[in-house]
Amino acid sequence: MADAKLSTSAVSSHAFSYQPPAINGDFVGKHIISVDQFKRQDLDILFDAATSIRKRIRTHDRGLTELCAGKVMASLFFEASTRTDMSFQAAMRRLGGDVIAVSNGVRFSSMYKGENLSDTVRATGCYSDVVVLRHPEIGSSYEAAYYLDLLNARIDNPTVAISGGDGIGEHPTQALLDIFTVFDQKQSLDNMTITLVGDLLHGRTVHSLAKLIAYYDAADVRLCLVSPENLRMPADITALVRSHGISVCETDDLQEVIADTDVIYWTRVQEERFADAADYERIKDRYVMTPQVLAQTKPDAILLHPLPRKHEMGTRDDHDIMDLDKRAIYFEQMENGMFVRMALLVKVLRGVYV
Ligand code: NCD
Repeated sequence: MADAKLSTSAVSSHAFSYQPPAINGDFVGKHIISVDQFKRQDLDILFDAATSIRKRIRTHDRGLTELCAGKVMASLFFEASTRTDMSFQAAMRRLGGDVIAVSNGVRFSSMYKGENLSDTVRATGCYSDVVVLRHPEIGSSYEAAYYLDLLNARIDNPTVAISGGDGIGEHPTQALLDIFTVFDQKQSLDNMTITLVGDLLHGRTVHSLAKLIAYYDAADVRLCLVSPENLRMPADITALVRSHGISVCETDDLQEVIADTDVIYWTRVQEERFADAADYERIKDRYVMTPQVLAQTKPDAILLHPLPRKHEMGTRDDHDIMDLDKRAIYFEQMENGMFVRMALLVKVLRGVYV
């Protein structure tokens, strides 16, 4: 969604010095903008809540709608989204809260009159308890958090920011639901070989996921990063992962690692992030998951994908075959997104979860 009005100036220097608050077991009132805020104990708390919420939804527990009754979530999406936006909206409604968004979408917001992001976010903060923001610029969620803190010091009703993805930066709630899904299927991260495949340079989901795997501090985890040479995981992230004692392998050859992999996380080549379309064309078919490739994984391996999927997951016919394979769990992963986001909204807005 390239747009002159949303080009370079949305993020100020404040965003780059802003330090998001560590969760440390207490989520209330904290902006959620990076997985750097989480430790293992925080994940355990969140996942317990998500598991309980999932059970309550499945048993049609009407008490859920009391958990965020009277609360308002604002949805502020400056980039395309299906799952993140809808699952947050569904999450809030299932908790009894309300959802607001700019009528007819952000293209009718004042940012298209030239208003800056910090003012738009503060306007949103005046009317809501939580703002979910997706924006094409890296650091935009830090910008939102910084300016909401300033606003919160002046108004009675504080508002928290939750990142729904900041450009090629991070996508923290996606990583939370990804790890939740792995736990759900495997009960542990110990002794796992986890392989991330595709555009590891521009993919914000894999940035957050690699860090979160490190922060979980599981025993004997191996992280394999499979990408073309020019789309490798940023070096600061691989260094961080290694500093947690995780062995990291980087390769452009999927064959080296596929047979030993327990968790395989496939990603889309992020076409919209390429400055030169020819570069994208050269790379887009480098890794294609098909039923034949999936057949090379262990019988008990699991295949995740944040979705949307394009040709990196083969043809429509390939999709139909893979979707029936029990290793392919991206629909469960997608559904888990709502449960994890419900847990997060309750925790951030209410603190306790009962
Ligand atoms: C991802 C994103 O927006 O970063 N999608 C999502 O939120 N589920 C992945 C992608 O767009 O490729």
